Amino acid sequence: MTDDRVLMASDLPFELRMCPHLRPPREAPPVQRVRTPAGDEAWLVSGFTQVRALLTDDRVGRSHPKPDERAQYAGNPGYDQVTATDHTMADALHGLLREALAPHFTARRMLAMRPRLQELVDDQVIRLHTAGAPADLNEDFSIPLVLRVICELLGVPEEDQDQCVELMRRVESGDVMGLAAYFGQLIVRLRAEPDESLLSKLTASGAPDEQVVQVAMLLQFAGLGATVKQIAYGFLLLAGNTEQRAALQANPDLVPDAVEEMLRLSGSLSLPRYARADVEIANETVRDGDLVLLDLTAANYDPDGFDSPEDFRLDRTPNRHLTFSHGVWTCLGAPLARVLLRTVVATMLTTELRPAGALEHRSGPLTGGLPEKLPVTW
Ligand code: HEM
Repeated sequence: MTDDRVLMASDLPFELRMCPHLRPPREAPPVQRVRTPAGDEAWLVSGFTQVRALLTDDRVGRSHPKPDERAQYAGNPGYDQVTATDHTMADALHGLLREALAPHFTARRMLAMRPRLQELVDDQVIRLHTAGAPADLNEDFSIPLVLRVICELLGVPEEDQDQCVELMRRVESGDVMGLAAYFGQLIVRLRAEPDESLLSKLTASGAPDEQVVQVAMLLQFAGLGATVKQIAYGFLLLAGNTEQRAALQANPDLVPDAVEEMLRLSGSLSLPRYARADVEIANETVRDGDLVLLDLTAANYDPDGFDSPEDFRLDRTPNRHLTFSHGVWTCLGAPLARVLLRTVVATMLTTELRPAGALEHRSGPLTGGLPEKLPVTW
């Protein structure tokens, strides 16, 4: 057991993650005992093979029989969340959430959303230019764009979207009531005049209004930070890799592969899970109830999973990165994030946008490090 507090690779500042020569040598074993920033003991799993296998192993999950006694990673209820004390109940609740949401992220639905996503991206590029150079890629582009896309997904009518985006932005500073009230009114309207939207379908399924509002909030929480971060890091990768940028401009069919590689290199959340039995992982015995930290970013950089993992390659196929997690935990919004990111990257390639200063960023276990400001010019 080490007394060092270990942060997961996902929590390293972006620059350290992307510039391996600045990082201390990582000779870490695929599984090691660590002390978390919350001061508790845990297992840190960073090997690609082990992380991937655990994501489909039902001997680890988000339940804990004694939540008050559990070890924590961040000491933050949003992150160190336990969904139930009973494992079967936790899995059933998780299954229900996925069942309710999955139909709204089908390939058909995403295909249908594509033209509208392009319109939203184009419109946001115009708004960015209107803000004048230098602008902030997050503030003037990514955040409003992603929020508008989430409105679109939920089924917020176009004429309400500016208002809804404004209310969503207030959530960042702790004002949740305005958005909850707006969704409450929208649900009443949708009950009277149902349509094909996600909120309307959830409302029609008989779920109480309160739960429908919670799901809408969950989608904003789950979708916003990760996608904004991904746009920033993808933009920086394009700016810093002129050869790949030129190749993409010459052949835009490579954009989907570029997006997968951006997703791999930019990394992801780090997932806290609890063992539900004694589990052998790479010759270590994890005990029932132990906290197991699945470091998706470290796994994405593991040479056992990827040849020359530090390189940004457009020919990496297959690219089995774990940025969207895997198995029953796979990000529900991944199909939408992928279509949006492909649209954003393809559009960026047609602009003169370039960085105008260093990325300012806030690290933290909850977010895995969020870009706060990214000055851009053109
Ligand atoms: C590049 C952007 C994104 C990344 C990297 C990402 C990553 C992830 C990861 C790693 C998880 C697993 C969390 C866990 O198991 O604890 C997850 C779950 C989830 N994500 Fe995403 N996400 C992204 C965008 C989105 C978007 C746009 C939405 C929807 C608007 C979304 C909705 C969800 C939901 C609902 C879950 C929970 C799934 C479940 O519990 O089974 N995500 N995401």
